[in-house]
Amino acid sequence: MLKMSLEENLKKILIIDYGSQFTQLIARRIRELGVYSTIISHKKIKLIDIISKNIVGVILSGGPLNVYESKKINFDRNILKLGIPILGICFGHQIISKELGGRVKKAKNREFGLAKLKKIKKSKLTNNFFIKNGSSNVWMSHADEVIKLAKGFKVIAKTDTSKFSIVENSSMNFYGIQFHPEVTHTEKGKVILKNFIFSICKIKKNWSSKNQKQILIKEVKNIIGKSKVICALSGGVDSSVVAKLIHNAIGNQLTCIFVNTGLLRKNEEKQVLKTFKKKFKINLIYVDAKKLFLNKLKEVSDPEKKRKIIGNLFIRIFEKYSKKIKNVKFLAQGTLYPDLIESKSVTGSQTSKIKSHHNVGGLPKKMKLKLIEPLKFLFKDEVRKLGLELRLPNEIVLRHPFPGPGLAIRMPGKITENKIKILKEADDIFINSLIKHNLYNKIWQAYAALLPVKTVGVMGDNRTYEYMCLLRAITSEDGMTADFFSFSKDFMQLVSNKIINNIKGVNRVVYDVTSKPPSTIELE
Ligand code: XMP
Repeated sequence: MLKMSLEENLKKILIIDYGSQFTQLIARRIRELGVYSTIISHKKIKLIDIISKNIVGVILSGGPLNVYESKKINFDRNILKLGIPILGICFGHQIISKELGGRVKKAKNREFGLAKLKKIKKSKLTNNFFIKNGSSNVWMSHADEVIKLAKGFKVIAKTDTSKFSIVENSSMNFYGIQFHPEVTHTEKGKVILKNFIFSICKIKKNWSSKNQKQILIKEVKNIIGKSKVICALSGGVDSSVVAKLIHNAIGNQLTCIFVNTGLLRKNEEKQVLKTFKKKFKINLIYVDAKKLFLNKLKEVSDPEKKRKIIGNLFIRIFEKYSKKIKNVKFLAQGTLYPDLIESKSVTGSQTSKIKSHHNVGGLPKKMKLKLIEPLKFLFKDEVRKLGLELRLPNEIVLRHPFPGPGLAIRMPGKITENKIKILKEADDIFINSLIKHNLYNKIWQAYAALLPVKTVGVMGDNRTYEYMCLLRAITSEDGMTADFFSFSKDFMQLVSNKIINNIKGVNRVVYDVTSKPPSTIELE
C-alpha cells in the first residue's frame, strides 16, 4: 500500500495505542491545537518507526490491560532512551512508572468519573491548568494505580484517594497522568496537551484546515505524477472530497466511476452528474445499473444476502468499467482516520459481526492498483471542512451519511420498483422538512424506511390497506452509538400529513424511538 509522504515529512506527535476508547480523541485534540499526530497500535510499533518518522513527542494512551500482564503488552524500553518527551495517560502513566522502577497494583479505591486534583508542585505540564485554589476537575477511569513512584520522579498533583495523579521526571521529559485530558469532562484537559506538545515537545503548529488543502494537493501531485487514477464516486461526502481534491491536483488524469444502483436517494444521480460532470468537468463514467440491481435483488428478503449481492455486483461493474481506462495505476479511496484505527482489536477480543458493511473502499483488491488515500489522517468534520475549502456544494459536504447498499436496507423484505418509488418520495419529504425547519444540521442522520406491513386506514370515508412508513432521526458523534432525536408534535404531524397526503401506498407513519444500542441506525 502506498504511504503518503506528507505523513512522513511532517513533525508529529506519536500516540501509541493500548486500546483506550479515547485514543482517537487524543489525536483529535492535538489536531485542534494545530499539530499533526499519528496513532500506531502498541502491537505494531517498531523502534525504527519512532526514530525515522519525525516524531518529536510520544503519548502512551490509556487501555483496558493491566501493566502486570506483561505478555499482552508491547513496550520497547529503548523508547525511553531516545531523548523524546513522553506523556503517559492512565494506563500509559502506569507503564512508564513500572518500566522505570515504580510499582502498580489493583487500586484500593478505584476512581471512575469526576475527581478533584490538588496541586502539590509547579510543572511545565500544568501551566495554567489549576485554578486559583490549586485544584482542577478531571475525569478518571482506572482500577489500577501507581503505588510506588519510579526513581527520579516527583509528584505534581494528587487526589484524595490517589497519591500520584500527575508525576514528572523533568530532566528526562517524562510525564505521567492518571486522568484523561482528552475528554471534555476534564475541565482543562486541553491545557495539559497544549503544554506537552508546545512547551515540552517544542513542536510548532503545522496543521490547519487552511493550509491543509494546498499541502494535500501538492502531495497528491507528487505521488501520482503522470499516472492515471480511478475513483468510485458515490455522491457521499468522503468519495466526493477525494474526487475533487485529486481532480484539483491532476485534472484529467482522474476518471470517476459512478454506479447508479437505483437504490439512491431522490435525485442523487442528477446532483452528482450536475456537480462533478457539468460544474467541475471531471471525467465521469456514469453506469445506469438500476435494472441489473433490481433483477438480482428481486426475490431476496434476507438483509445479509441483500448486502452481499449489492457489494459483489458493485465490484463487478466497477471492475468492468475501470478496465476501459488505459494505464491506470492508482485507485483513490475516501478512507478516513477512524476507519484505520483498530482500538477494539488491541486487547485481542473479537467484536461480533453485526452487519457486513458494504464499502467501495478496499473492494477491488484483485485489480492490483496502488491505493491513494489522501484523507486517511482526517476525521469526518475535518473532511467536511476540506470539502468546503474545495468549493464542493453544501448539499454534498453537509449531507447526512448514507449506507453503501442504499435504500435496499431501508425496506425490510422484498425490494420492488414500487417500494423504491414510495421510499424515495417519503425520504425526500422528510429530509426537505428537516431542512425547512432548520433541523437538518442538528441531526446526525435521518431517513424514511418502508416497513413490509400493511395496515388498515380510512381516507375520504374509504377503507385503505397500505404500507407503513417509519421515520428515523438520530443524534450521534460517530454512528457507533446514537440516540433518537426529539421532535415537536407539530413537526411530526406536519411530516406525517405531508407523507400521507402526497404518497400513494402509505397510510400510516411511525417514529423510531430506539437508541443504538440496542437498535442499529439502519433497519437491516
Ligand atoms: P448501523 O446500522 O450499523 O449504521 O448502526 C451505522 C452507520 O453506518 C452506516 N452504514 C453503512 N455505511 N456501508 C456504509 O458505507 C454500509 O454497508 C453501511 N451500513 C450502515 C449507517 O448509515 C450509519 O451511518
